[in-house]
Amino acid sequence: MNKLNRLLVLLLVGFGFLLLFAQVSSTAPELQIRKQPFGTTNEKKPVELYTLSNKNGVEAGIITYGGIVVSLKLPDRKGTVREVTLGYDSLDGYLKNNSPYFGALIGRYANRIGNGRFSLGGREYRLATNSNGSHLHGGNQGFDKAVWKATEVRGPKSVGLKLDYVSPDGEEGYPGTLSATAVYTLTTDNELRIDYSATTDRDTIVNLTNHAYFNLAGDGNILKHRLMINADRFTPISEAFIPTGEVRSVKGTPMDFTKPTAIGARINQKDEQLIRGNGYDHNWVLNRKDNKLSLAARVEEPTSGRVLEVLTTEPGVQFYTGNFLDGTIKGIGGKVYQQRAGFCLETQHFPDSPNHPNFPSTVLKPGQKYATTTVYKFSVQ
Ligand code: GLA
Repeated sequence: MNKLNRLLVLLLVGFGFLLLFAQVSSTAPELQIRKQPFGTTNEKKPVELYTLSNKNGVEAGIITYGGIVVSLKLPDRKGTVREVTLGYDSLDGYLKNNSPYFGALIGRYANRIGNGRFSLGGREYRLATNSNGSHLHGGNQGFDKAVWKATEVRGPKSVGLKLDYVSPDGEEGYPGTLSATAVYTLTTDNELRIDYSATTDRDTIVNLTNHAYFNLAGDGNILKHRLMINADRFTPISEAFIPTGEVRSVKGTPMDFTKPTAIGARINQKDEQLIRGNGYDHNWVLNRKDNKLSLAARVEEPTSGRVLEVLTTEPGVQFYTGNFLDGTIKGIGGKVYQQRAGFCLETQHFPDSPNHPNFPSTVLKPGQKYATTTVYKFSVQ
């Protein structure tokens, strides 16, 4: 080879390396989505697990059964990544154990409807009564037990999963065919966002949420987590857990989380509402000027430094302290969930709204589009 040829070969090889490098760096996994099988339902429908992750170590696992967030991994202030949600290791757990709605999409109506009855357009509807004579979280076969159709979605700064489910007319007693969509997206800014939408072919009611349980420490109970709820008022409940219709000030009560307060600071007080709820299991009326996405709640876990902010377009949030967990569930990694092992912040319209004309309406009519957004924003401090 003469000098010129050698130079040419060198140049070509160098150029090749450059190309390879450019290729590798452009596919650097800033955001990733992985798909894998997660078992089959009792009706032999296959279920998939989609794992969304970003380069900061935030990872969310979502299955097509119930749109359940089966895993949420977050770094602490030192960068140590831990599981911060409650759930089961396998689909069997969700199928067999009558799951307390761990991580699930809830519909058609999140929370309770008193006596499972409501009237719309001069007609009374009777819903499945699955909780002491009331309708809870969509009934016996709610959206948490449906297999959703999944489509991967990618944006410039996000990766996501679009889930679709068509609920037939009359399902669990609800009028109208409801076409529901929930899009989960994980962003480069450590936000897990859920955009819910729905349309109907007959007048109906709808109220969608997600029932994720969080424990930002990764184990133990959540009593030392410090919580702020951006709400001056809440909706008190009857002994049957149904809102009385009153909208009450939180001032001077253990429901006042307007300033960051440890969840456990007042939970055992002899307060009528806490006694009725077995702890916190109430709807807060969020302070808001309009229905734009705004801060509903902020939780910080002092030991790990993990912070969760919940933003929503919804008028309310159900704060629930895992009061019904009793140590009988063996969850992720064999962890036993004792009472107060996790908390939920379920963004929503108020419980039993169809029976309280003074609450914001949950009615959806043909031609209208139901559209709400909730963002879980993760950080450390
Ligand atoms: C909601 C309800 C609670 C309970 C949990 C799941 O938060 O308000 O009463 O049903 O779901 O156990």
